[in-house]
Amino acid sequence: MGKDSEAHRVGTRAIHAGQDPFKWKSGAVVPPISLASTFAQFAPAQLTECGFDYSRAGNPTRQCFEECVAAVEGAKHALAFASGLAATTTLLHLLQKGEEVVCMDDVYGGTNRLMNRVFVPNGVKVTKVDCTNLDLLSEALNENVRIVWIETPTNPTMKCVDIEACSKIIKSKLKRPDSIFVVDNTFMSPYNQKPLKFGADVSMHSVSKYINGHSDVIMGLLMTDDDELATKLRFLQNAVGAVPSPFDCYMANRGLKTLHLRMERHNSNALKVAQFLEKEPQVERVMHPGLKSYPGYEIHNKQCTGNSGMVTFWIKGDVETSKAFIANLKLFTLAESLGGFESLAELPCVMTHASVPPDQREVLGISDTLIRLSVGLEDIDDLLDDLTNAFAAVNAS
Ligand SMILES: Cc1ncc(COP(=O)(O)O)c(C=O)c1O
Repeated sequence: MGKDSEAHRVGTRAIHAGQDPFKWKSGAVVPPISLASTFAQFAPAQLTECGFDYSRAGNPTRQCFEECVAAVEGAKHALAFASGLAATTTLLHLLQKGEEVVCMDDVYGGTNRLMNRVFVPNGVKVTKVDCTNLDLLSEALNENVRIVWIETPTNPTMKCVDIEACSKIIKSKLKRPDSIFVVDNTFMSPYNQKPLKFGADVSMHSVSKYINGHSDVIMGLLMTDDDELATKLRFLQNAVGAVPSPFDCYMANRGLKTLHLRMERHNSNALKVAQFLEKEPQVERVMHPGLKSYPGYEIHNKQCTGNSGMVTFWIKGDVETSKAFIANLKLFTLAESLGGFESLAELPCVMTHASVPPDQREVLGISDTLIRLSVGLEDIDDLLDDLTNAFAAVNAS
């Protein structure tokens, strides 16, 4: 992060950090998409001052995005990948034989599937722990544990985990300098939550969500303040090779320019939706960090400056009620994913979290009546009307 951007606030960083027009010979105020796969060298192994040799190892458009997003999160290093799961896969390649992962019990279904069905069969031990209970986390930490992986709030049940408290326990119990505490920060975005400030070693993102914000890119990120860890991850980024295209880097860099504006609207729209749902007689329970009734309200407010657009609720009835409610929504599109400008609704038990084993889903409360909303940037009164109409239709049927 450059000296200037350290002095600036987050919206200014999103627009200016790493974006100096004079670093491109033309002075282009919009960074060019640098499509070259390879770069001319002055003599064998003698690179130009930019230091690029081959685009898997480094690319000007990717670097431009990485510098900007690092400044927005307040991280020293950011590394971009072809997807959120490509970022996770690359990080898990840090594991050596016999090392273990402790993973929050409620995480994105794809993270769960990657660990259980790709890394576990290859000999990695993964222990699932409810990290909202710090005693359980402490008990799970033994000398073989190298990586602790959490989300907060979790996907989809929105449990809140105390990042600082987890970090203190991990550092005191593991006593190994190479232990890595990762927070998947996708749900909150760098605008609302900065896990590195609370003791996380890595902040991971699916850029496909809020950072890009326009539902037209699949990309991931790992961010860290640790120089040594960054060097290892940079090596793996090139060695594993799951890198994003220059075009996607361009798109994500462009989306990032309005992150601060979009997040303000996501934050306020979602709070109003959550407050509306809390008063709706056909709703059993609502989970959103902005509600006073939210179990992790105090902790969330300590570590976040906003709540994002995610709202989870349990509708009264059964799976048919959930499906009927979703079928009657007109503005909320039935689709997986989150964090785009458009409002989405989904049924995690058969969609995003279908790959989580049914017994684990039951323990976590991912029932047939849990509906997840990603509240977008539309006019709030239209969104509330849409929800009102869908409840009325379910009631009348
Ligand atoms: C919280 C969270 N983490 C990680 C991912 C994976 O990201 P990607 O789809 O970019 O691979 C997702 C995707 O939905 C997610 O919601």
